[in-house]
Amino acid sequence: MSEVVIAADAEEAGALAAGIIGRLVQDDPAAVLGVATGSTPLPLYRALATLGLDFRGVTAFALDEYVGLPPGHAESYRQVIEREVVGPLGLDPTRVHVPNGDPEELAHAGSDYEAAIALAGGVDVQILGIGTDGHIGFNEPGSSLASPTRVKTLTPETRADNARFFDSIDDVPMHCVTQGIGTILRARHLILLAFGEAKASALAAAVEGPVTASVPASAIQLHPRVTVIVDEAAAAQLERADYYRYVFANRPAWQQL
Ligand code: F6R
Repeated sequence: MSEVVIAADAEEAGALAAGIIGRLVQDDPAAVLGVATGSTPLPLYRALATLGLDFRGVTAFALDEYVGLPPGHAESYRQVIEREVVGPLGLDPTRVHVPNGDPEELAHAGSDYEAAIALAGGVDVQILGIGTDGHIGFNEPGSSLASPTRVKTLTPETRADNARFFDSIDDVPMHCVTQGIGTILRARHLILLAFGEAKASALAAAVEGPVTASVPASAIQLHPRVTVIVDEAAAAQLERADYYRYVFANRPAWQQL
């Protein structure tokens, strides 16, 4: 694992992650970001919006999209990304990509998305959350660690977790199009965020357990550059928490996150 940072809370974690992304965009105004949806990255997006950076040249790729939500549905990830990322940061909407969840287009949705990422030169920094079942993107347990963007079936656990965004669990789509684990691992830097005690067990398995398709997030251990930023509650089951704090407290002056 490249680095695990235990922040006091989600706000501090969001600010730390925003610092990394802010420096990237300052150095490269045409950077390519991989953006996650869900609750976890919201403090990061809020912190990024306060930095006063120009995001108009930045390209963004969402991790995933539900299959079959009507265009414009408030909980489609296209809409969530527009609301939480594109608007607040001032991205150019024509540079923002979300997998195509139209049921009529699924045969080529994955390969089209892979081609678009390749055409953009790959993702510089990929923001990740983690599911309580250990997923990243919507790569549910059992997903191939080399998987490309494709259609997946959401687990009952993920549908229950995400029911809070819908009127009822029955409204949570059964299927999604998600970047694969192989796709995610091709990004040049991964930032995984996790907040709250509900994530503690999945996070510990991902960071300190064996690399296994049963915990898709454990695939990040195969990546050369990962920054895991969590709050105290999510860190509660990390065996080496004290060591991560010690490393952070004693980081060399030249080493930025
Ligand atoms: C979102 C995504 C998912 C979420 C995960 C955690 O684009 O791909 O992996 O990051 O389900 O969701 P939250 O942040 O809502 O707890």
